[in-house]
Amino acid sequence: MENTESLEDIEAEIRKCKKCELWKTKTNYVPGEGNPRATLVFIGEAPGKEEDRQGRPFVGNAGKLLTEMIEKIGLRREDVFIGNVLKCRPPNNRDPLPEEVEACSMYLIRQLDAIKPSIIACLGRYSASFLFNYFNIEFRGIGRERGRVKEVERWGKKVKLVALYHPAAVLYRPQLRENLEKDFRMISGLLAQKNHTLFDFME
Ligand code: URA
Ligand code: SF4
Repeated sequence: MENTESLEDIEAEIRKCKKCELWKTKTNYVPGEGNPRATLVFIGEAPGKEEDRQGRPFVGNAGKLLTEMIEKIGLRREDVFIGNVLKCRPPNNRDPLPEEVEACSMYLIRQLDAIKPSIIACLGRYSASFLFNYFNIEFRGIGRERGRVKEVERWGKKVKLVALYHPAAVLYRPQLRENLEKDFRMISGLLAQKNHTLFDFME
């Protein structure tokens, strides 16, 4: 079909990147990981301390909760793709700066173009506002958008975009956990409804 670059090519480029200042303070780049043909992808904000240390996404406390939620709907981390808007940790986990997002976000878009997922789950306000904006969908705040499925046309198919609370926010406010679990069950329903295999094979 069309000429698409592989996830490995993009990852190799990320590992040499100096497009914003964050490469100087990071320990490891965190390109993201998972199945290159994943139907379902989870996109967070940026690596935290443990992710920076290991070079892998969502491996700290928030990551443990995300992994638990993924497993609760009968999937494994290896079945999905897990990534972030930024590939280097902002010092002390400060919010990403607009110029950092500007410099880094094309990697995420290229990763999505390589994977061509059918469901994009945005973890938290930050990732959701970036991706909603990218797909030209109005974002009215995480509290209002979470759990609502938006449909966009992409890669010659209908792609579902859904915002979820960030697992770190749920750790901080345990009363949000029920919502997160409900949204995961909803995603599980979407997978079943579309009769997806776990991986979408494209010609
Ligand atoms: N929070 C994120 O947004 N991403 C990670 O990879 C870890 C924590
Ligand atoms: Fe490059 Fe992104 Fe790291 Fe900035 S955060 S140096 S743009 S990989």
